[in-house]
Amino acid sequence: MPRPLAVIVLAAGLGTRTKVSIPKVLLPLCGRTLLGTVLDTVADLTPDRTVVVLHHGKDEIERTLADRSGLTIVDQGEPRGTGHAVQVAMHALEGFEGDVMVVYGDVPLITVDTLVELRASRGDHGVSVLTALPDDPTGLGRILRDADDEFVGIREERDCSDDELAIPEINAGIYCYDAAVLRPLLEGLSDDNAQRELYLTDTIQALLEDGRTAIAVEVADAEEVSGINDLRQLAIATDLMRERILLQHLANGVCIEDPATTFIDHGVEIGRDTRILPCTVIRSGVVIGENCEIGPFSHLRVGTVLEERAEIGNFVETKKTRIGVGTKAKHLTYLGDAEIGAGANIGCGTITANYDGKNKFRTVIGDGAFVGSGTVLVAPSTMGARSMTGAGAIVTRETKIEADEVWVGVPAKRLRERTSARDGGQS
Ligand code: UD1
Ligand code: CA
Repeated sequence: MPRPLAVIVLAAGLGTRTKVSIPKVLLPLCGRTLLGTVLDTVADLTPDRTVVVLHHGKDEIERTLADRSGLTIVDQGEPRGTGHAVQVAMHALEGFEGDVMVVYGDVPLITVDTLVELRASRGDHGVSVLTALPDDPTGLGRILRDADDEFVGIREERDCSDDELAIPEINAGIYCYDAAVLRPLLEGLSDDNAQRELYLTDTIQALLEDGRTAIAVEVADAEEVSGINDLRQLAIATDLMRERILLQHLANGVCIEDPATTFIDHGVEIGRDTRILPCTVIRSGVVIGENCEIGPFSHLRVGTVLEERAEIGNFVETKKTRIGVGTKAKHLTYLGDAEIGAGANIGCGTITANYDGKNKFRTVIGDGAFVGSGTVLVAPSTMGARSMTGAGAIVTRETKIEADEVWVGVPAKRLRERTSARDGGQS
């Protein structure tokens, strides 16, 4: 039997330094919230229990977690420090025996590999503590080591002597405890310190005084443990996360011509041999097949599906739209709430007018259809297979263009049948 694992995610703090109105852990990071990002990483550990400690913004945060199963959400009440937060979480974990990891909801770049390593290095120690050597340790707890370099405790910055302030190694705030060791230590915490808080970090010294051992493990990449306290830090984290995502797609055989101007959210699927050209934005949940070409200057939004060999060109925006095999929409086009078949040509300047100010409606375009330049399709409307519109056609709402018909004009009217001899087009 593997040892059971519980993970406690701390997210009850106020986060005033972001100066935004939403709770800090709901800030967006490449298509997920900060907290959602952490919870996804935690889920990769397949823990037996996950406890999320909330207070400030609890209702709003909780709504964003509705789709996730297996979470225990606890309200810390007025936050009185990390030790208090873990006390509250451990009440929810009554009777749990095994490993207890503590992570923060505002430290989103932590990787599952680091957490696995932290847990593995605990061994017979009472706790393993993740540390880092950041460029600037200001504000963080310092790692205390004795003359033999053995880890002996953590000192909060506000309680540090001048010598201790010079220590570059910091406490990342991420731990793996033995539950049986942690419980009694929490009972003994006091707020006799500069901030009048219950410090979780005080458990380390107490544990050592009890004759147990602790180990401090340095994270390979200090960036992984940087917390988000303001929008500047969020921008830096976004850049790092974006790079991670792009590297994954590159490793999967997706050609990205200019990573510096390509923005791909978390949770986008892209088939191999697809080419992404510069200045392209692809949002969460988009699915792109093999051998497609996207960009330059394309914006693929939620619910877009491109089947293989589809091509989306410059100044084309898609939303909740499926685009069939080999279909092209190369210039200046909006496709929203649309279902487009295979081998269609969507002319320059095509617009699906999907919104009447109140409701959204669907547009259906069949296989091999040819949409003339500057066509507006007012939804709901349908173009049958191989049908065609002339340049500048305004297809009014609830129009049904049958297969092989050619429609032109404003408002568009049926002109004739399409014949392969005279009908072609430009792409
Ligand atoms: C803590 C550590 C410090 C470490 C730093 C790393 C303690 C006493 N100090 O600093 O050694 O270098 O993290 O970032 O643990 N939170 C709650 N409830 C609370 C207090 C905090 O849920 O009552 C959450 C916050 O929302 C945040 C995280 O815990 O996600 C850390 O809180 P923060 O105040 O930033 O950390 P410090 O206590 O200053
Ligand atoms: Ca604090």
